[in-house]
Amino acid sequence: MGGARGYANIAAMNDKPAMKPATVAAQALGWIDESTKAVVPPLHPSSTFVRDPDNQFRSGRVYARADNPTFDQAEAVLAALENGAGAALFASGMAAATAVFLSLKPGDHVVISRVMYWSLRNWLLGFATDWGLKVEIVDTTDLAALKTAMRPGQTALVWIETPGNPTLAVSDIAVAAEIAHAAGARLAVDSTVATPVFTRPLELGADIVMHSATKYLNGHSDIIAGALVTRLCDAHWEKIRAIRVQLGGVLGTFEAWLLLRGMRTLFPRVRAAAASAMAIAQHFRGHPLVADVLYPGLSNFPGHEVAARQMTGGFGGLLSLRVKGGERAAIATAANVKIWKRATSLGGVESLVEHRASVEGADSPAPPDLLRLSTGIEETSDLIDDLEAALSAAHS
Ligand SMILES: Cc1ncc(COP(=O)(O)O)c(C=O)c1O
Repeated sequence: MGGARGYANIAAMNDKPAMKPATVAAQALGWIDESTKAVVPPLHPSSTFVRDPDNQFRSGRVYARADNPTFDQAEAVLAALENGAGAALFASGMAAATAVFLSLKPGDHVVISRVMYWSLRNWLLGFATDWGLKVEIVDTTDLAALKTAMRPGQTALVWIETPGNPTLAVSDIAVAAEIAHAAGARLAVDSTVATPVFTRPLELGADIVMHSATKYLNGHSDIIAGALVTRLCDAHWEKIRAIRVQLGGVLGTFEAWLLLRGMRTLFPRVRAAAASAMAIAQHFRGHPLVADVLYPGLSNFPGHEVAARQMTGGFGGLLSLRVKGGERAAIATAANVKIWKRATSLGGVESLVEHRASVEGADSPAPPDLLRLSTGIEETSDLIDDLEAALSAAHS
């Protein structure tokens, strides 16, 4: 079952009042090790598990490529935060995402967001297309375009990323789910940027949620990890879990343990990052050296209305600035920061800046003047002052 199985082994807080998501995360579901009374779970590095004398595996464990007890609590916490029926950890966000597409059949039609993680888009247009998927890129912020793209009976999956990285394009999850379901397709949502702190896609009708757990879920830039959460533990979910076992894209034991530790501080980290992102967006809106600020929290941002409906409590820690003076000025601004780190990725406690067009290449929807900013949890005024100084230096 994944995630659900974990609950059986965890002294879940059955006798405690219902907890809000922030409490679930901070207490990691309130697990206590009954043998030691420890509030932090042990690591289980064992790759294999002993068979009973009568040839059975009553522990339910056979081999750690199939299953690892260290995953249980992290999967259960994530399933609870997303209000899903089960969760599965993977070796990376890419391992999680590709497992969803590999659970389809060659010949299936899939619709994907125009703005999405570039490396996954490249895999879909390369390997997955060669393998037989019919991949169609659609601007999923345009619901009429999404509806037109659907091929009832052939479209197996709609994949949206919202807010979409790096232009923060916002897709309407609830309506996308209706459109997908009407055509007999599933809806999967890459919710890495939104996090369960701000959006719960399964409650809006999505079938699967995907996270690059490398980012906010872990939050400390010290592991690569991925996760899927499902609305139903059905045959399709079992197929996805079988792909994890067969392809072997399993998370390491220590990474799973670190991920659980990271998730315990998810809410305060992500709320702080989002508050900073909002302050930075407001500060640089209308700035003489900035052509545009892309952030779903700004009332003039095209996706703001939908974001305000489906994101609760904040708009995330990712934003992009379009720097006046084009590509040269954008790259020079990144070159001049002293506190922000020039690095790829997002969702860590340290703030990162990146010129995305340089990374994504010719087919990227990232304009050449765009700098993607991932705010961390530093003092907001330090981040603003550093960007101000870098912009001035780039234009001097
Ligand atoms: C939105 C999004 N989805 C998926 C991924 C892929 O995750 P990973 O790098 O953990 O494989 C990334 C990585 O940058 C991402 O930003």
